[in-house]
Amino acid sequence: MNKEQIIEEINSLKKVKNASILAHFYQDGDIQDIADLVADSLGLAQAGKNSTANILLIAGVHFMGETAKILSPEKTVLVPDLKAGCSLADNCPADKFSDFISKYPDHEVVTYVNCSAAVKALSTVLCTSSNAVKIINSITKDKPIIFAPDKHLGNYLKRITGREMIIWDGACMVHEAFEARTIIDLKRKHPEAIVLAHPECPEVVLDLADHIGSTSSLLNYSIKSDAESYIVVTESGIIHQMEKSSPNKKFIPVSNDKNCNCAECPYMRLNTLEKIRDALRFEEPKIEIPEEIRVKAVKPLERMLEISAS
Ligand code: 13P
Ligand code: SF4
Repeated sequence: MNKEQIIEEINSLKKVKNASILAHFYQDGDIQDIADLVADSLGLAQAGKNSTANILLIAGVHFMGETAKILSPEKTVLVPDLKAGCSLADNCPADKFSDFISKYPDHEVVTYVNCSAAVKALSTVLCTSSNAVKIINSITKDKPIIFAPDKHLGNYLKRITGREMIIWDGACMVHEAFEARTIIDLKRKHPEAIVLAHPECPEVVLDLADHIGSTSSLLNYSIKSDAESYIVVTESGIIHQMEKSSPNKKFIPVSNDKNCNCAECPYMRLNTLEKIRDALRFEEPKIEIPEEIRVKAVKPLERMLEISAS
């Protein structure tokens, strides 16, 4: 079966089953192009909650599927590949996180959505990279904060908000691998280019950025700015939307891997059009969450959505 036939089958399955495909900006371009929505983590959570579809297919990673299921337990939530994890979520197991937060009983627990449902259930409020500053600022000044699981985002938030935080020692394997010297070299070659960076990058990398933000914030900046070229310091999948939105601008990927001139998340790249077609056809693999965890996890998630909308 060729690509066009697979896409045709996906579109017909979507119609027959009232399914919606929500894709993250880090997916392959082919997947972004067949999605009903392409968005950042916050956009996916909001769209999943508001969708009237019976089936949500989350083309992203496992924690994004869990977020959709926590918010919409009545819907069937599918992911193309259950093995599509995340280094941040994987390195913050709920039992260790529970021990960690029990040492600081007076702290509010602010957790990045890149974590398991069980870790979400232990949190006061969740955040994404697009609303993290607002969420931290919503915590009363006299309350100390635990931030998890991304130390680079946590340290960035500490610098921006001036709040003291106890930070879990986790990192995104894609963003942590960016090196300042690679960006300095690219800036030398393209002195006119604007540097766009995701806050999951280490501080030495963020220090070189002209704009720091979530995937949607980086995309919007590139659309609104008059600059003609951009050095993009995040997962290379976002460049597909940047090029579609601004076909006359130049987007320069930053390599974090000796084997390619790019930075790809191996988990995001597990998804394929074939797996999406099969997931819709067989309604597997499904995201399932024990109800006692889901009811605890939905509170900090809803709180995040309320603060975000305020
Ligand atoms: P955002 O799309 O929310 O910026 O998150 C980036 C990310 O790491 C998703 O895996
Ligand atoms: Fe996780 Fe990083 Fe991959 Fe996003 S890019 S899913 S944070 S490992």
